[in-house]
Amino acid sequence: LAGRALSTATARHNISHVTVIGGGLMGSGIAQVAAGSQHKVVLCDVSQDVLDKTINRIETSLGRVAKKKFADDANGAKDFIAATMDNLSTSTDAVKTIGDGTDLVVEAIKEDLDLKKKVFAEYDAVAKDHTIFASNTSSLSIGKIAEATQRKDRFGGLHFFNPVPVMKLVEVIRISETSDETFQALKSFGEAVGKHVVVCKDTPGFIVNRLLVPYLLEAARMVERGDATIEDVDAAMKLGAGYPMGPFQLLDYVGLDTTAFIAQGWAEDYPEEPLFKPVNVIAEKVKEGKLGNKSGQGFYDYSK
Ligand code: 3HC
Repeated sequence: LAGRALSTATARHNISHVTVIGGGLMGSGIAQVAAGSQHKVVLCDVSQDVLDKTINRIETSLGRVAKKKFADDANGAKDFIAATMDNLSTSTDAVKTIGDGTDLVVEAIKEDLDLKKKVFAEYDAVAKDHTIFASNTSSLSIGKIAEATQRKDRFGGLHFFNPVPVMKLVEVIRISETSDETFQALKSFGEAVGKHVVVCKDTPGFIVNRLLVPYLLEAARMVERGDATIEDVDAAMKLGAGYPMGPFQLLDYVGLDTTAFIAQGWAEDYPEEPLFKPVNVIAEKVKEGKLGNKSGQGFYDYSK
């Protein structure tokens, strides 16, 4: 029987129904691009208030996407927004949504290993055999999260970038247990939502954050040493290296708490790695509640 269950589980990798867990910036962006590419999507969060805000955020973002995609076609834009919203629903009961049947669960909740393991264990108990689980974690080990489930063969990483509707990349992470079918399904899903897919092993930060986070920390160290000002470092990287944002603008955009949290986790796991060492100027801002764009202040002031 177990063999039969496995063969139905692995035979189907056409993803049409997606459950996204977490109504934050990443979760809402993932739900938006999935719904905008003809997937039926249920966006779940424990808070109805968060879900209400999320729907507003998605509508605003869809307006911007549609304006570009249908520049000379007002009806096309309207239809695209209506069809996307029609594909999207919300729920405060993820366990029921998953139990009712879904092809893919994409988790985008807080970067907390124990919490992620706890929710995945709950979902694993109710999910249909064929359901694939993916985490959008930016810094935790996919293998450690998958430990909480009995479906490591149907588990992988799908790492998107902020703002999800704009950034064209998704990293697909396979662990040693991820089946070929699951891996192909995750890659196909990434392509179906319009992203360029890159593949990475389950290593800290995968490709982008492994390079980006040390770069951001190094920029902060440079200012801490008094080598240059925040404004000049940002101008330098934009005008001299062609980055769309300077490192301090990007730190504010990603969130100083998020960056500090990622660095802290890696520093604990890899105490010998100088690139991961925490940086005081960032820690101090976080202590003062200056978290970047989302709190109105970070390295720059967004309150006006
Ligand atoms: N939804 C839809 N469209 C959006 C959008 C959103 N949330 N945000 C921006 N856009 C669109 C705008 O409508 C605009 O469209 P247009 O070209 O038709 O006018 C276009 O994107 C550019 O936006 P803006 O003119 O407002 O501003 P910028 O030109 O400065 O672009 C940006 C904004 C796309 C955010 C750009 O600055 C950028 O690429 N920054 C770097 C972002 C980055 O590095 N992200 C990765 C962070 S790391 C991460 O996410 C990993 C995580 O694990 C930590």
